[in-house]
Amino acid sequence: MERRRKVFVAQPVPETVEAYIRNHCECEVWKGPERIPRETLFSRIRDKEGVLLAGVRVDGEFLEQAPQLRVVSNVSVGYNNFDLAAMKARGVAGTNTSGVLDDTVADLAMGLLLAAARRIPELDRHVKEGLWQQGDDEILFGKQVHHATLGILGMGRIGEALARRARFGFDMEVLYHNRNRKPEVEKALGVRYAGFGELLARSDYVVLLAPLTPSTRGMMDESAFRSMKSDSIFLNVSRGETVKEEALVQALQKGWIRGAGLDVYGREPVSRENPLLGLDNCVTLPHIGSAVAGTREDMAMLAARSMVAVLQGRDPGTIVT
Ligand code: DGY
Repeated sequence: MERRRKVFVAQPVPETVEAYIRNHCECEVWKGPERIPRETLFSRIRDKEGVLLAGVRVDGEFLEQAPQLRVVSNVSVGYNNFDLAAMKARGVAGTNTSGVLDDTVADLAMGLLLAAARRIPELDRHVKEGLWQQGDDEILFGKQVHHATLGILGMGRIGEALARRARFGFDMEVLYHNRNRKPEVEKALGVRYAGFGELLARSDYVVLLAPLTPSTRGMMDESAFRSMKSDSIFLNVSRGETVKEEALVQALQKGWIRGAGLDVYGREPVSRENPLLGLDNCVTLPHIGSAVAGTREDMAMLAARSMVAVLQGRDPGTIVT
């Protein structure tokens, strides 16, 4: 008979997901609602072989607390919270939720682009504050979206889903920059590869979707923003640390670019003192890329299935370490 492995679920998950895990494992669940304190987490993982979590740093200190650990399952597609070298050295597998949130995050990216282009949050405030007057005309103008050029930095699955929306929904020209070229995607979607500099210089909209890695950390710096068109809009739906925030603030204040739309920040939740929050030409969202109930349930279930598979000696197809 299969030995029941001990696992810890470090955040609330839908009942269906908890039931699935309990079917296969002996399981403890942190029910929240507040985030589990690191010390509490450490005290709960000592005898566990699997942990399911999101946004928690999994480093040498974490691994030391869990001598039995074999798998950490991330309920997110980004896995910059994993210290890959430390996990590899300990032989602990890490998994992510690639594949079940692509369309949801791409929807959000397109929404953020439209919101920033047509100034939707700013003009919503204009109406609600009673400022809309007869004769308001040019002061309500936004930037054209259809037939404009979209530059996608990071052409993974979410990038492809966004390119599809932009090409076939909005007739946009799409450029992409990626670690490797994707001829089959170029052919299927009619998109074109561009060097980083060319993409920045030619795009009306630049969307950052690349994962946070040592080579993408801070990639959008002063020189990157200075090389964008002065009428262009920058969007970040990846990780905040890919952007030098002080440079973005300058770009928005000094008119190096027209506007921005952000779902992510260097520090989250973003502090009220962050100057980006005081800029009308910057749309700010609270990291909601995948925040739709059905998608979050799919992500939690995929993470649970991945954890169980690794513990049963099967390859879940989601291992990133
Ligand atoms: C992820 O899953 O990494 C994204 O940030 C979703 O919002």
